[in-house]
Amino acid sequence: MELEQKIEEIKDKAVASIEVAKNSDELFNLEKEFLGRKSEFNNILKSLKDMTDDERRKIGALANISKNEIQEAINKKRTELLATSFDFEKERIDVTIPGRKQEIGHLNPISRVQKEIMDIFTSMGFEIADGPEVETEWYNFDALNMPPTHPARDMQDTFWIKSDEMKERVLPRTHTSAVQVKYMEKHKPPFRIIAPGRIFRNEATDASHEHTFHQFEALVVGENINVGNFKFIAEQFFSSFFGKDMKVRLRPSFFPYVEPGFEFDITCAVCQGKGCSVCKTGWIELGGAGMVNQGVFVAAGYLKNKYQGFAWGFGLERLAMMKYKIDDIRLFNSGDLRFIKQF
Ligand code: DAH
Repeated sequence: MELEQKIEEIKDKAVASIEVAKNSDELFNLEKEFLGRKSEFNNILKSLKDMTDDERRKIGALANISKNEIQEAINKKRTELLATSFDFEKERIDVTIPGRKQEIGHLNPISRVQKEIMDIFTSMGFEIADGPEVETEWYNFDALNMPPTHPARDMQDTFWIKSDEMKERVLPRTHTSAVQVKYMEKHKPPFRIIAPGRIFRNEATDASHEHTFHQFEALVVGENINVGNFKFIAEQFFSSFFGKDMKVRLRPSFFPYVEPGFEFDITCAVCQGKGCSVCKTGWIELGGAGMVNQGVFVAAGYLKNKYQGFAWGFGLERLAMMKYKIDDIRLFNSGDLRFIKQF
């Protein structure tokens, strides 16, 4: 009798405390206290085995019912606590809020122009050649008919790289013309290539000058190549690039690696050759070109007078500035997203 009363008491006490539990920690402790391994209740259950059959049946049944009641009270409280502790305001998902925009990167206009140029030239059967940005003095100057004392070296003021280990002097290349002999050494004419890339000069910067910029070189070599071929290909290219009819004009000039040499102008893309405040004359000066000097072929290991070819080179920034009406070359490397995002 005593034991039955005790079980009832424990149960009442447990259910009463469970009902007023304030949070899940408290509830967890109560569960341990009343139903845990060390609980009074558990001791009673353990002592069942020492009882008479009669007692065991009676006490056992009561103990089980009480245990279930306590467990039920716990479960009920747990659901209750869960419902009240859930902060609906905080957890609410507002499906009407616009999604966060994923920013997609942009190509720099230089990369874009370079890609456009490569597309046009590959469609005309040209291959793309490449060269290192740090080049030996030989490929950048000597092989192009510019020995150390040649005054033409002054046209491209240069950074030099100090190195005791290198047998040859090396420098960040001052023009993409450095690719010419390097390519010719490994290939036999006929071929037509373009070589776009980054170049470096010791240059004070202003709206139209940068120390680091891009050029683009074209080289066509065969046994029957003439200036007319150059003019035709150049006009085809510029017309395709600007999407309108463009003319090329040659003016005699000097570069040690061509003979004869030219500077070339193209139709002003702003006024279409009529003459405006940008060009004054209807022409825009763009780059250098000429028939490859036989001395360059010899430097590449070709027989003298076996081949002819033309070469031309100009700045990519200049072309991008004309096409996209950009008025300051420094913008390309400024890292200003307001500029980049316009392309
Ligand atoms: N390399 C020259 C420069 O950077 C441009 C140039 C002139 C390239 C004449 C050529 C050429 O291929 O034939 O100013």
